[in-house]
Amino acid sequence: MNNNGDEQITRRDFFSIVGWGGMAATLGGSAFSFYKFYFPNVLYESQKVFKIGKPSDYPMGLSEKWKKERQIWVVRNEGGLYAMISICRHLGCTPNWFDDKKKFLCPCHGSIYDIAGNVLGGPAPKLLWRAAIKIDPVDGQIIVDFNHRQDPDPISTENGLMVEEASREVEPFFLKV
Ligand code: FES
Repeated sequence: MNNNGDEQITRRDFFSIVGWGGMAATLGGSAFSFYKFYFPNVLYESQKVFKIGKPSDYPMGLSEKWKKERQIWVVRNEGGLYAMISICRHLGCTPNWFDDKKKFLCPCHGSIYDIAGNVLGGPAPKLLWRAAIKIDPVDGQIIVDFNHRQDPDPISTENGLMVEEASREVEPFFLKV
């Protein structure tokens, strides 16, 4: 009797622990889902704001160093630097740079851009975006804000859809470095 009684209490305790444990796990899972929904993944966010090294890492012309990993080209001209987003403004394909032609050509439907992002031909309705950039005062690296984009309204000319370059070379989309 005593033994049976002890055994029953032990079983009851066991199932009680399992029950409370299950409930705790369920509540914990719900809380985690709630947290993930309202507080976006830090890693995901950090992918949209990232560093690409120092201005001195970029000589005159176009750098494709970050095209694959970060979807940007870095361009240095006489006045400074800008980061252009390597997403075609037609349907989002990735254009390729042809150094001999000094043009970007989109492999999907043939849009053509110059190094400034102006549309020289094809179906793209707007210029290539440029991303906001600034210098980190601590380590001197360039910080790119991928989602903060310059998107000017182009003018239709005989050469394509254009924007005056000087109007694009303004903060925070251009670094005079
Ligand atoms: S996606 Fe580039 S031309 Fe269509």
